[in-house]
Amino acid sequence: MSHQNVGQGADAKPGEIAISVDHATKVFGRRPKEAAKRLRAGASREEVKPFGTAAVIDASFDVRVGEIFVVMGLSGSGKSTLIRLLNGLGDTTDGSISVFGHEIVGMSAAELRKVRREQMAMVFQHFALFPHRTVLENAAYGLEIQGVPVEERGERARGWLSRVGLDGWADSLPGELSGGMQQRVGLARAFAAGTRILLMDEAFSALDPLIRREMQELLVELQQELGMTIVFITHDLNEAMFLGDRIAVMRDGRIVQLGTPNDILTDPANDYVAQFVQDVDRARVLTAGDVMEPPRAVVPASAGPRAALKAMRDLQTSACFVTSAGRKLIGVVRDKDMLRLVRDGGTNISDALKPTPSIVSPDQLIAELFELAVESPLPVAVVDEQDRLIGVVPRVTLLASLTNLPTMTTEIPIIEPTPDVPGAIITATLEATGGTGSPAVGDLATTEGGAL
Ligand SMILES: Nc1ncnc2c1ncn2[C@@H]1O[C@H](COP(=O)(O)OP(=O)(O)OP(=O)(O)O)[C@@H](O)[C@H]1O
Ligand SMILES: [Mg+2]
Repeated sequence: MSHQNVGQGADAKPGEIAISVDHATKVFGRRPKEAAKRLRAGASREEVKPFGTAAVIDASFDVRVGEIFVVMGLSGSGKSTLIRLLNGLGDTTDGSISVFGHEIVGMSAAELRKVRREQMAMVFQHFALFPHRTVLENAAYGLEIQGVPVEERGERARGWLSRVGLDGWADSLPGELSGGMQQRVGLARAFAAGTRILLMDEAFSALDPLIRREMQELLVELQQELGMTIVFITHDLNEAMFLGDRIAVMRDGRIVQLGTPNDILTDPANDYVAQFVQDVDRARVLTAGDVMEPPRAVVPASAGPRAALKAMRDLQTSACFVTSAGRKLIGVVRDKDMLRLVRDGGTNISDALKPTPSIVSPDQLIAELFELAVESPLPVAVVDEQDRLIGVVPRVTLLASLTNLPTMTTEIPIIEPTPDVPGAIITATLEATGGTGSPAVGDLATTEGGAL
C-alpha cells in the first residue's frame, strides 16, 4: 500500500500540534451561554442545570501529530460531545478549538464540511455504512466526496479493503458481512479518505472481544505506518491502555486526568480514576519495557570465564548473560560450565556459551512473558532493535507487576536462578587456578560499571 493518499499530512511533523482545545465548554439546553458564563465564574454543573446540561466543561488539551489520544470515561461523561466539537459536528458554547492552527469555532457550515472531508475522518460505533452501496463503494465514499475520479478511488479503496483483510468482498453489500467485517469497511473508508486526523467514537465497542483485539492491533499497525493522528473514545480502560499514547479521563463533563497509560495506572489522580484502574488487566497493559530492571548478572565475553564465574559467585546466581562489544546479547553461561572451563584452563567464554532462553523486545506485553518465564528460571532478557541487552524481567518482578506492589521488597535484589555450585567451591577453584592470569578485577569493574 502506498502512502500517497496521506499527502495532506505530509507537511505535519510528529510532535507538532494537530488539535488544540482551549477552555472548551459545551452546554445543551435553553440558555447555554448563560450556563457557560456561570461555569466560567465558578458555578458547578449542578448549579447551572436550570440553564442546560453542561456536557463538556472547560476542556483544555493538545493532540500531537502522530499520537493516539484516547478519551475515556463512564457513560454520559461527555466523550461523544467532546469529539463532536473537534470536527464541528457540535458547536462549542465557550472556548476555542483549532485544527492545524485553524480555528474551528465560528466556521461556516461549508468550511466545516471541507475540514471534515479533507482533514478529519470519523468512525462511529455503528459502522454507518450505506446499506445499498457495495463494500467497495462504501470504502471509496470519502474519496468520492473529495471528487477523486471513479477509477482512482476504486483502486485506492480496493487497496485499503485488502489491507484490512477484505479481499474478495468488494462487490458484496454490507448486510452480507459480519459486524467485525463491517467495521473493517469503516476503517478502510476512513483510511482511504487519507485525512491526517481520524476521530473514532467507540469504534470497536460493538465487536466481540477477540475481533475487537484484532481491530485494535490493526489500527495500531496502520497508525504507525501512516503516522496519523487519532482521537479514540472508549469506556474500556484496557482498550484505552492498549491504544493510547495519552489518555484523558472524563467525569461529569470535565477532564479529571490527562496522562500516559503508565501515569494513569500507577498514579491515578482521584478515586474515580482509581476505580477504573482496578479493573485493568495489567498483564495486557504493561510491557516488558515498563517493568524491566537493570541487568545485573552480565559479563562481556571478553572478560573471560574466571570473571564470569566470580560474578556469578558474588551475585549468588547460577547463570549470567554474556554480551559482545556494544553490549549485544550473545548468550548465557552457567556456573557449573564455567567452573569446568576454568578447571580445564579454558580462557574463552564462547566455548561454553548457551543460547539465551527467552528474549523479548521492550514493547512486548507482560501477558506474553509468563509462558517464557515458566520455561526457564533465567530472567527474561529485554533487548533493543540492535540486540543490545537493555533490561531483564525476573520472575518476581513479573508477579509483582500484576499486583502493583513495589518490585523490590528487600534491600537485596533477588537474582535468579539460584546457584548450582556453592560459592566456596568457586572461590577454591579460582584460587587454585589463579596464578598470573588471576581474576580480572579490571574486567569485572567494567562489567559492573557497564551493564551489571
Ligand atoms: N443532543 C443533546 N441534547 C441534550 N443533551 C445531550 C445531547 N447530547 C448529549 N447530551 C448530554 O450530555 C451529556 C454527555 O453526553 P455524551 O453523549 O457526550 O456522553 P458519552 O460520554 O459519550 O456517553 P456514552 O458513553 O454513553 O456514549 C449527557 O448528560 C447527555 O445526556
Ligand atoms: Mg458517547
